[in-house]
Amino acid sequence: MIIENQQQITEAVLSEIQRIKDPRLREIISAAVRHLHAFAREVKLTEDEFRQACSFVARLGQKTNENHNEVVLLCGSVGLSPLICLLNNGNNGQTETTANMLGPFWRMDSPRTENGGSIVRSPTPGPSIFVRAQVKDTRGLPVADAEVDVWHSSPEGFYENQDPTQANMNLRGKFKTDIDGRISFRTVRPSGYPIPVDGPVGDFIRLQGRHNMRPAHLHFMIFKEGYKTHISQVYMNDDVNLETDVQFGVTRALVGNYIRHENEAAPAADVTGPWYSLDFTFTIEPGVAKLPRPPITAKADGDRVQLEILKRT
Ligand SMILES: [Fe+2]
Repeated sequence: MIIENQQQITEAVLSEIQRIKDPRLREIISAAVRHLHAFAREVKLTEDEFRQACSFVARLGQKTNENHNEVVLLCGSVGLSPLICLLNNGNNGQTETTANMLGPFWRMDSPRTENGGSIVRSPTPGPSIFVRAQVKDTRGLPVADAEVDVWHSSPEGFYENQDPTQANMNLRGKFKTDIDGRISFRTVRPSGYPIPVDGPVGDFIRLQGRHNMRPAHLHFMIFKEGYKTHISQVYMNDDVNLETDVQFGVTRALVGNYIRHENEAAPAADVTGPWYSLDFTFTIEPGVAKLPRPPITAKADGDRVQLEILKRT
């Protein structure tokens, strides 16, 4: 089609998109083009601004490699990943859900650990946490024999794969729910940590005067045939960055009630000083059990990553 005016460009593109055979793909791409064109019209995007936007997108790709995905980091930083999560869980966005984003640090094949066991696999100083979690279905019945993967950052804010001082698979474990749908384990209190800001996402965060911290959390992934694989994070209720998570992951349902115990006997004799407990219930939905592609496959060599921390201004 020969274009007569700016409106016709959208028509011309949409008409070509009709050639896509897969109806779902056709729907997605048509809507993307319509919204993209409407966006350019709404803000009256100038040629200079358009060139800057293209260079920003190109830099996202240039910054991405096997161990880091800058595109995913941006999607969290603009709230797209948490939106997609909430649209696809909790009866497709209609009810509260304990689902959350996967994040970049899940590893396949974490060590099978018995209920009540510890996932501290090398000396990791920090207050102990005793976690009891239950998995239920949407009718409120316990789900037995579900695999529950757990992983989290150290009290210094490093996942083991980022930190040569930690043993392989430290603070990671895989549990199985008992007949009552329960798992339990012992670990140490994780810290919040910064996301990398040495790329285009960093420029974007700085532009808004935001900090780049995620509040402290434990990650969970619950897998059982017949259920949609449930990916979750349970955030620490006393974290100063709970309201301003750089990845917009904190939902009301996922603020855990981590209870601090002082001068109270811990479930294990070797605990000295204050310790924490967490009781949490996950609700999983019927669906397809499918593991995601692991974002990382091994422990990094060399020194710990040192990430810049931005202040909220
Ligand atoms: Fe995390």
